[in-house]
Amino acid sequence: MPPDQLASLLAAASARLKAAGSDTPVLDARLLLQAAAGFSREDLIMGPDCTLSPGQAARFESFIARREEHEPVSRILGEREFYGRAFKVTPDTLDPRPDTETIIEAALPRIGKGARLLDLGTGTGAIAITLLAERPESTGVATDLSPAALAVAGENARALGVADRLTLLEGSWLEPVTGAFDIILSNPPYIPAGDIATLSPDVRNHDPGLALVGGTDGLDPYRIIASGAAAHLAAGGHVLVEIGAGQAEDITAIFTQHGFRAAGRYRDLGGHERCLAFNRPEK
Ligand SMILES: C[S@@+](CC[C@H](N)C(=O)[O-])C[C@H]1O[C@@H](n2cnc3c(N)ncnc32)[C@H](O)[C@@H]1O
Repeated sequence: MPPDQLASLLAAASARLKAAGSDTPVLDARLLLQAAAGFSREDLIMGPDCTLSPGQAARFESFIARREEHEPVSRILGEREFYGRAFKVTPDTLDPRPDTETIIEAALPRIGKGARLLDLGTGTGAIAITLLAERPESTGVATDLSPAALAVAGENARALGVADRLTLLEGSWLEPVTGAFDIILSNPPYIPAGDIATLSPDVRNHDPGLALVGGTDGLDPYRIIASGAAAHLAAGGHVLVEIGAGQAEDITAIFTQHGFRAAGRYRDLGGHERCLAFNRPEK
């Protein structure tokens, strides 16, 4: 296939994805072509040597058709890059978002040597595994209500070399947890139940409901975590939570009612307040 044919294949696919409503049609088409054909980014740039077999072309067509139906690229590929590492994603896990890198940035300076981390609602394990990988002397526990999600977190932990430092526990929030931790983190479901219908089809039809809905007002998981966290927080420890747009005041009120002190607010790259930090006043 001459290079101009590869370029026109990409241009046609991008146009289809743009018409279907993708915000990033050119990038989507390129990533799907690379995956369908087993090309690297360099292969595409060097175009002249690239050819598509009928099998590769059929695979690319099926990927583009799925993306036209609003299936996210990460779900078609079965993996998502998060903080520079590849995480397996399945229909049982939330697709980790770039916004969640905000909690990583807020947590890293708070993780001292030998710190014990607790990640509540771990999904793919994106938060716990990233922090353990970035801080090789730390250990962690991660919980989730979904055994299928925990199985994926286990696979990711093995693939990323932190499985020997991460304990995975099935259960609701803090229920299965024993012991004390230096940092407790959570990106819980925070969408109000009534708002689910307003989400884009990429999210509504592909992220698991268990990972999205946080009760009637979206705040139920924060109430549970705030009421139980102190019993598992070591002296001088921190609690960090990801939050949805416009939830900072309500969630700060929930944590302060439970004896916590606000210790930081962090914005994502879009400028939204995305992460709150809390600690406990020393007695
Ligand atoms: C928004 S997702 C976050 C996943 C992952 N931490 C991330 O940031 O990509 C919320 C996670 O909480 C889990 N979850 C929902 N209800 C839970 C509960 N009662 N106890 C523990 N985990 C729960 C979901 O299964 C899902 O994996």
